[in-house]
Amino acid sequence: MKQLSDWENNKGINFLKKAGIKEDYKVLDFGCNNGNYSIPASKIIGENGRVYAIDNNSYALEILKEKAKLLPYKNIKTVNNNGNLNINLKSNYIDFVLLYDILHYLKLENRKTLYQEIYRVLKPNSILSVYPKHIIGNMPLMEFTDISLRELINEIENNGFEFIIKICSVLSHDEHLEEGCIINLRKRE
Ligand SMILES: C[S@@+](CC[C@H](N)C(=O)[O-])C[C@H]1O[C@@H](n2cnc3c(N)ncnc32)[C@H](O)[C@@H]1O
Repeated sequence: MKQLSDWENNKGINFLKKAGIKEDYKVLDFGCNNGNYSIPASKIIGENGRVYAIDNNSYALEILKEKAKLLPYKNIKTVNNNGNLNINLKSNYIDFVLLYDILHYLKLENRKTLYQEIYRVLKPNSILSVYPKHIIGNMPLMEFTDISLRELINEIENNGFEFIIKICSVLSHDEHLEEGCIINLRKRE
């Protein structure tokens, strides 16, 4: 609990700034759960920014809504997509997408649909940031039992993105903090 409040107030903010989130940004947090990344993002983007926090777990979204009431800015919009990968946002609209610890839930065909939707909603040259948990070497799980980081990067690059950087840091995973790495990919024009 103490670890997480340190995350929301300090470490998470510093990490997301390093990842590239800036004031006034429109951020899409796809698979946000109870908001361990949406909350620090809200504090960076400020009153003119917006976090679109999408998940299919209504219980987790209720927790996020309660936490969001205590935040300085009312800039988080929670959306229950019922698992639908078609994102209800206009094209070329979003400045930064978080796809953290979710891809292992999705089969290849569904991951491709999601990359295409993210490509559509992101502004040109903007960033898709991925926390690739549960790949080979990191407790492989579900759809990621046989995929390496290199293969995952190739897969995303084949859907209109270009790998830019890998950033390693203390990260929030489930309800604790641990060392991990995210990758940033830029939307190619
Ligand atoms: C392991 S959690 C990661 C939460 C958060 N991104 C983080 O890193 O703290 C994965 C989340 O993805 C959500 N999820 C899985 N498939 C989804 C889908 N098709 N649409 C929306 N959310 C989905 C789950 O409900 C869960 O909340």
